[in-house]
Formats: sequence, structure tokens, C-alpha cells
Amino acid sequence: MTKRIKAPEDLRSARWFAPDDLRSFGHRSRVMQMGLGPEDWAGKPVIAVVNTWSDINPCHTHFKQRVDDVKRGVLQAGGFPLELPAQSLAENFVKPTTMLYRNLLAMDVEELLRCHPVDGVVLMGGCDKTTPGLLMGATSAGYPAIYLPAGPMLRGNWHGKVLGSGSDAWKYWDDRRAGLINQKQWLEIEGGIARSHGTCMTMGTASTMTAIAEALGMTLPGASSIPAADSNHIRMSADTGRRIVDMVWEDLTPAKIQTHAAFENAIAVAMAMGCSTNAIIHVIAQARRAGCEISLDDFDRFSRFVPVIANVRPSGDQYLMEDFFYAGGLPGLMNRIKQHLHLDTLTVTGNTLGENIEGAEVYNDDVIRPVDHPIYAEGALAVLKGNLAPDGCVIKPSACPAHLHQHTGPALVFDDYPSMKAVIDSDDLDVTADHVLILRNAGPLGGPGMPEWGMLPMPKKLLKQGVRDMLRLSDARMSGTSYGACVLHISPESYVGGPLALVQNGDLITVDVPARAIRLEISDEELARRKAEWKAPVARYERGYGWMFSKHIQQAHEGCDFDFLRTDFGAAVSEPDI
Ligand code: FES
Ligand code: MG
Repeated sequence: MTKRIKAPEDLRSARWFAPDDLRSFGHRSRVMQMGLGPEDWAGKPVIAVVNTWSDINPCHTHFKQRVDDVKRGVLQAGGFPLELPAQSLAENFVKPTTMLYRNLLAMDVEELLRCHPVDGVVLMGGCDKTTPGLLMGATSAGYPAIYLPAGPMLRGNWHGKVLGSGSDAWKYWDDRRAGLINQKQWLEIEGGIARSHGTCMTMGTASTMTAIAEALGMTLPGASSIPAADSNHIRMSADTGRRIVDMVWEDLTPAKIQTHAAFENAIAVAMAMGCSTNAIIHVIAQARRAGCEISLDDFDRFSRFVPVIANVRPSGDQYLMEDFFYAGGLPGLMNRIKQHLHLDTLTVTGNTLGENIEGAEVYNDDVIRPVDHPIYAEGALAVLKGNLAPDGCVIKPSACPAHLHQHTGPALVFDDYPSMKAVIDSDDLDVTADHVLILRNAGPLGGPGMPEWGMLPMPKKLLKQGVRDMLRLSDARMSGTSYGACVLHISPESYVGGPLALVQNGDLITVDVPARAIRLEISDEELARRKAEWKAPVARYERGYGWMFSKHIQQAHEGCDFDFLRTDFGAAVSEPDI
């Protein structure tokens, strides 16, 4: 248990408000301009409430109200709350991909906190990239921080059938393309699949990343599992506001919480949840911000002994996050895998993770399985390496059929997404179920921003034959709600001349998940010959954010952070002069 170690005069915000000088006169008089007096701020922790609400972010609609619940908690605990809006990053609307802007959000948050009179921060996010973006920025800023997850939306519903975000869209879209669903039914599905505010309620990137935030110790216990529309979520928001005020007095910073052991807990929990493949990139980036070295190999190591026990789609076959909450939520799951967790890590509560989950129960053994009856005995992700991916790539074996875990087949190569899209539904496409589809120029630089194109559409010709899955390889990512035999994040990417750029139609490709291997079956000499002939594509951006992104983005296995934002890049940034 941490204890109060700061006095009002030690507060960072006191540098703005306390001195009897002209600068501080200016700060105080401008707060008074807003109708507030010294009783509102003097001697109180200033709490930034960083809100990623926007009119075009359906996952964060309720943040417009929740920010008031957070403020209520801050006021109750004797703090001074200030809402600071940050970039919203709505997964469905931001093009070409929110991943292009995750680091921009992280920079936004870090600088928002640094430049304002802030003592602590509540981070309000949930839609995919907002969680890592907010946490990466707050980690680099270093002030006490607590994460408020938006919470998953309620189950979707169509004709009495439960619909899951993403996963069921892909599934029914394939049915529609196969002529099994008509236009009227399709519109009904559109209206039924997302029926409340909140984040995707499958085990997509949003639910994965908020669970990771909780496993790291950055949320209140159980916070990540509460559905957005549940009144528990409102009370949790006020609790979060109350808790951050004490965290400031206790000087409980992210550095004390986000240790190497905490990141290992995050990985173990991600595996048990049947996590989104995107988790790998975000956790590596965030760990590096925290000064902890986490690599692809750590994920593969944990994947071999932590079973998937959350029976939530797409790895699970039936349930969604709402069911997961009723079954006991993340504390219940963590208690079930506690032999794989470091229980002595500190959390935002001031207590250890072990103390937080002590006695947490599971109320439905089919939703959160016992470890000896998992839905998949090994972890959610596997990291493959070989001459086609020297720095690694990722597959989600729990979401693809076993017969494709070991496969050799001829390559069918698409140079970019538009050219693939133009022909994939053609009846003349020379493709069989044995083929290995390849999409290139979809990586961090080539996409740009590594769009979620990795679940390449199944060729219509094969769908009509009843084939529902085949091996698909790319340097792209895929949505956490996707499924199928998709090998992703191939690194280095093709756009910078990685071996993926050198594959030709008809080359044999082998994927062997048990052996963690991926091979282009050509000789080293032939590979070297093709590499010598490869020509770099022209630069995509000549100005603006995209230019900066292109100069500084790192490859997938390094977490796609900007090189200059890594904690070990240069001397630490000093506090602003006032
Ligand atoms: Fe926001 Fe899925 S679109 S969480
Ligand atoms: Mg997603």
C-alpha cells in the first residue's frame, strides 16, 4: 500500500498557481476569468481528464457524459478537474488507418500533459488505438495516470441471433457474396450489429488493449470488462476520478506500475483472452516507452504455456464481452491464471495485482474456462520466423483451422490492395484452396500505417466451392475481430525491400506453426539475385505529417513507434519554464 508523500506545495501545478509573482498572477486571474476562485484550485491536485470523445466516434459517445462522472469523483476527493480533449481516432472512420495516427495521439497526450499545470491524469479511451496512444503518451510524460476504459457495447442481435462486432460482419458478408443473404436482411444486420455505445464487444483490439491496461495495473480492478451501457460503468468512472487524486498525493507514477513484470502479466492475460494480433505491436511500443525490453519472442514464449480460456469470439465460438462481464470479467480470468502472473506488481489502487484479484470468482465455466478445459491449449498467437520473415511475423492459430497450421502451397501475389480488390472476385482467377495469397506494400511505410488488410477476402470462386479459409500472407495487420489463416506483420515489410517483395507467382511457400517457421522455398542465391534487382518505390509523402511519419516509423517487430519517441532516444525532456 502506498501512502501520501506529497504536500500541496510539492504539487507540480503549484509552480503555476502558488508564487507571488506576475506570471502566477496571470495564471490565477485567467482561472478566475472562468468563474472559479481559489477555493476551487488552491492547494488541490489539478487532474487532467484527457477525453477522446468526438461526434464521429460511436465507441466513445458516452464520454460526453462520463467526463462529468469523472469530474464528480475528482471533486469529491478534493481535486481540481480539467477536461483536455485529445485526438479521437475512431477506428471505422479514420482513413487510411488509425494506426497512422496512434503515435500522433501519443505525442498529443504527452505534450498536453507537459505543457499544462497538471498533477495527474485520467485517460479516457477504448476504441482500438486510443488505448495504446493514451498510455504511451502518459507513460512518456510520467505523471500519475489512470486509465478509464470505454467499455464494450452490448451484444448485437438479428432475428434472435447474437451478432458480434467485426467477426459476424465478415461472416455474413461472405454469405451475402455467396448469395445466401438478400438486401433486406443485410440492412437488418447493419442495424443490429452495433446497438449501444461502447467498443467492439468481440475480443478485438479494443477489448484486448483495455484488458492489457487492466493487467498492467493501469485501471481500477474489473474496469475493462464493464459494458459501456451498464450503470456500473458510471460509478466506475466516478471511482476513477476519486482514485487519481490520491494517486497524486502518493506520487504513484506509471514508472512504478509499468515494470517488466507488469508487461509479462499483460502478455499472459492477452494470451488467455485469445487476444487480437494488434496487441503485439502496441505492447512492444508501450513497454519500450516504459523502458522495458519486450520482444516478439516474449509473446511466443507465453503462447506456449498460457491457454486461451476466454470463450469470446472470434477465438471462442459463442460468447461476447457482455457475457464475459457477467461471468466474472477480467479479475475472474486473472485469478484462474494466477500461476502465470507476477502477483506482486503494483497497480493504480496502491495494492498489488494479487491483492486486487484475491477471491475473484468465475460464475460461468463455459465463458471463462478452467485452465484444464481451455478452448485452445496453447496461446492465442504464434510468432513465425524464416527467410520470408527474418524479423518475424504473427499468426493467430486459435482462429484458424488446424489443417492450415502446416501447409505448403504456390504463391498468388498481389502488389497492393487495389490490384487485389480488382480481381479477387473474378471467376477467371487462377486460384485453388492450396494457394497462398500474398499481399504486399501494406506495412508500416507501404500501407501507409499498416492498414487492417491482412484478412484478404476469400476469392469468390473458392467461396462458391464451399472453401471458407486458406493461407493468406502480408505485411499488414488485421482487425482483432478477424479470423482465418492469416500470417501478418511480416517484417521487414516489402516496401523497404523485405523478402516479401521478392516472392513471385508460383513460388512455393511453407508455413509450419508447430515449428514456428515460414519459408519461401527458393535458394539463398536466387533470393539474393532477386534482391539485387529490386527497386525501391518512390517516396509516398513529400510534406506534412506523412513525411515525418515516413522518416521515423519503426518496423512492426519494434512496435511501430517513432524512433525519436523511444525513451532511450536522447536526454529526457525537461519540465517547461514558467
Ligand atoms: Fe471502436 Fe471497434 S470500432 S472499438
Ligand atoms: Mg478493430
